[in-house]
Amino acid sequence: MTKDNFNIDESLVRDAAQSLVDSSYTIALVGAGISVESGIPTFRGPGGLWTKLGEPSSNGYKDFLRNPESWWRQNLDPNIDPERTKFRDAIDKAIPNEGHYALVRLEQIGVLHHQITQNVDDLHFQAGSRSVTEIHGNRTMLRCIGCETRWSKTEFPTGEIVPEITSRSNNFPPMCPDCDSPIKSDTVMFGEPIPMGTLDSCFLHSSKATCIIVVGTSATVYPAASFPQDIQARGGTLIEANPNETPLSSTADIALRGPTAITLPALVQMVEHIKATSR
Ligand code: APR
Repeated sequence: MTKDNFNIDESLVRDAAQSLVDSSYTIALVGAGISVESGIPTFRGPGGLWTKLGEPSSNGYKDFLRNPESWWRQNLDPNIDPERTKFRDAIDKAIPNEGHYALVRLEQIGVLHHQITQNVDDLHFQAGSRSVTEIHGNRTMLRCIGCETRWSKTEFPTGEIVPEITSRSNNFPPMCPDCDSPIKSDTVMFGEPIPMGTLDSCFLHSSKATCIIVVGTSATVYPAASFPQDIQARGGTLIEANPNETPLSSTADIALRGPTAITLPALVQMVEHIKATSR
C-alpha cells in the first residue's frame, strides 16, 4: 500500500475524531511506522531492521556494563555493523512527515495531551510536539546510567563524543561528571531497564488517559504495549492507526487502516470540522 493508492474510510475517521473530542485526557503510543514516510525503516515486517538482522540479544546492556570502553569503540565504529550504520544514516537524514505534524496539530487543538513514543529519531520534537515521553530514549542524547542525567551528544561537558575521542584516553570512555557512573547513548538497549524517570512519566500519563491512539506500532514490546491494554481495561477508548493488524486489532474500538501520513492528517481535519461545527 502506498500513500497514493489509499482510500480513507470517512466514517471511521469521524468516529475516531469524535472520540478524541469527547475524551478528557488522550495519549498516543507511537512506533516506528510513523517514521516510514520519513525514510526510516521499521524494525519488524518487510524491510525491517530486525527482519534483516534478527532481534538483538538482551546481553547488549550486560556487555556495556562489563566493558563500557569496548562498547563505545564498537558503537563509534561505522564499519562494525553496516546495516545498523545504514539505519542510523536514515535517521540522521530524516525529517518529520505529515504524520508527525498531525500529532503536533492535535496537541495544539487540545485533543492530544501526551505522546509516549518508542521512536528514538527525535522527529516528534523536530516537528514541534511538546508533551512527549521517549520511552526508548533519543539517539541525539547521552545518559548517565547512575543519576539519569541527559546531555545532547554535541554538548557533553568534556566534549562531543566522536570516533576520534577513542585515541584521546583522558575523556574515554565518557563518565558522568556528577556521579562518575558510565555514560551511554540515551537509546534504551535490549535488556536495559527503562530509566525510572521515564517510566514514571509514562505511567502518570497513561493512568489519566480515557482514550489512547496507537500509531504505527506492532504493539509487541513491553512495557510500552501494556499501556493501551491498561487504558482499555479501565473503559478507555483504543484507536489503532496502522496499515496492518497488530495484537491490539481484535480489541481496538476503531481501526484507521492506512499509512499514518494519510490517516492522521485526515483525523486532524475531521477534529477541526467537529469542533468548528459544534461551537
Ligand atoms: N504508517 C503507519 N504504520 C506503519 C506504516 C506506515 N506507513 N508502515 C508500517 N507501519 C506499521 C507496521 O504495520 C508495524 O505495525 O509500523 C509498525 C512497525 O512495527 P515495528 O517495526 O515492530 O516497530 P515498533 O512497534 O516501533 O517497535 C517497538 O521494538 O525493537 C524495539 O526499540 C524498538 O522501539 C522499538 C520497539
